[in-house]
Amino acid sequence: MTQASALLSGAVRARPATELSGRFRAPGDKSISHRSLILGGLARGETRISGLLESEDVLNTGKAMAALGAQVERTGEGQWIVQGRAGELNAPDQPLDCGNSGTGVRLLMGVVAGAGVDAEFVGDESLSVRPMARVTRPLSQMGANFETRDGCLPAKNRASALTGITYAPPIASAQVKSAILLAGLGANGITRVEEARATRDHTETMLTAFGGEIDVQRENGGLIATLKGPQILTGQTVDVPGDPSSAAFALVAALTVPGSSIRIENVMDNEARIGLYTTLLEMGADLRFEPGPVMAGERTRHIEARFSTLHGVEVPPERAPSMIDEYPVLSVAAASAEGETRMMGLEELRAKESDRLAGSADLLAANSARFELLDDGLIVKGLGVGGVPGGGVVETRHDHRLAMSGLVLGLAAQNPVTVDETVMIATSYPDFFAHMLALGAPMEGGI
Ligand code: S3P
Repeated sequence: MTQASALLSGAVRARPATELSGRFRAPGDKSISHRSLILGGLARGETRISGLLESEDVLNTGKAMAALGAQVERTGEGQWIVQGRAGELNAPDQPLDCGNSGTGVRLLMGVVAGAGVDAEFVGDESLSVRPMARVTRPLSQMGANFETRDGCLPAKNRASALTGITYAPPIASAQVKSAILLAGLGANGITRVEEARATRDHTETMLTAFGGEIDVQRENGGLIATLKGPQILTGQTVDVPGDPSSAAFALVAALTVPGSSIRIENVMDNEARIGLYTTLLEMGADLRFEPGPVMAGERTRHIEARFSTLHGVEVPPERAPSMIDEYPVLSVAAASAEGETRMMGLEELRAKESDRLAGSADLLAANSARFELLDDGLIVKGLGVGGVPGGGVVETRHDHRLAMSGLVLGLAAQNPVTVDETVMIATSYPDFFAHMLALGAPMEGGI
């Protein structure tokens, strides 16, 4: 077992660091990885994927698509071939176990409803208390037959025919939009999703790449996606771009650890995903960008981050969908900035892998950083470079992003920071420790 893989379970401590340096290629994007397996399994013919994120969440989606009848085969590191079912899925004989993944389960609910098959969904402790009614409600309006345990998993669908609907999700959620659009592929008639605030558009973009017909209109920060079912997709080649949400951890570490300079390659540059980068630039971050290759129809860029004296900013609520997974690590950056960082409109953070708003506040509190927690926001009162005392133990609550954020905080604090469990990091970023150790981050397990 390598040093990095040994760190992927149990408690891990990050010690104050100096001069992180090095470069690596960003891990494959989680959202695009899930969708490649799903669309590949639904399509007619073969889909070849390279750079797939081989994290637990994504692998569970691959297993689910195989249980639904697709042939899903790994041919090398990050290389996968999917033989699709041309829309005709089988009813699985076991419950589909989506593990920790909200994206996996919600998108697959749309798939199963649209394909008209019986299926049951289960997940781990964290996923089993997350809200599923946000997806089963619109799917039921389309004619699906879901039974849940009080709006949570386990959930069961009984096969039925669907009809398209027009739906305006009450919350900004790409998972909700995607579930409805995927169900719409198998429904009769027009399915339309009207978002007041546009969320990540990977499903729409990839549906087009897979030969689907979908119309996307954008206006005043909103998005309307319309498609007519039934439709059969065609298998494609997908080269998965790097994940801006995962790249965020090492980049924030470099910005907050004195003397650091790092480079991360092939990071997806999609408007709906880069709110953190806009915010860090506003905070005075020394981030430099160079164009990278276009991958899966997405622009990418190489990003260099150098240690910077950051200052607090106000993050507008309308930016939230484009950085929804990045608030914990932004809170960590803000703790070492000068002045206040105000983050508002964050009620959705309470429905993530854990209550991430409370989790971020507790992470800061355990390390004597200063902040004010609101019902739907967090105000971090920065202590300046090297100003966070640290020395605490972070409760990770089955939440990979809290674990990685806690460790990044430890690198820039005065005293080591321990996170109580790291096993969940493998759900989204199994190479996290390999990348951080290679940059020179002092992290140790066996505590
Ligand atoms: C995702 C959408 C977001 C995000 C998640 C991935 C996706 O969730 O938090 O990590 O791939 O569609 P919501 O749709 O719940 O905001």
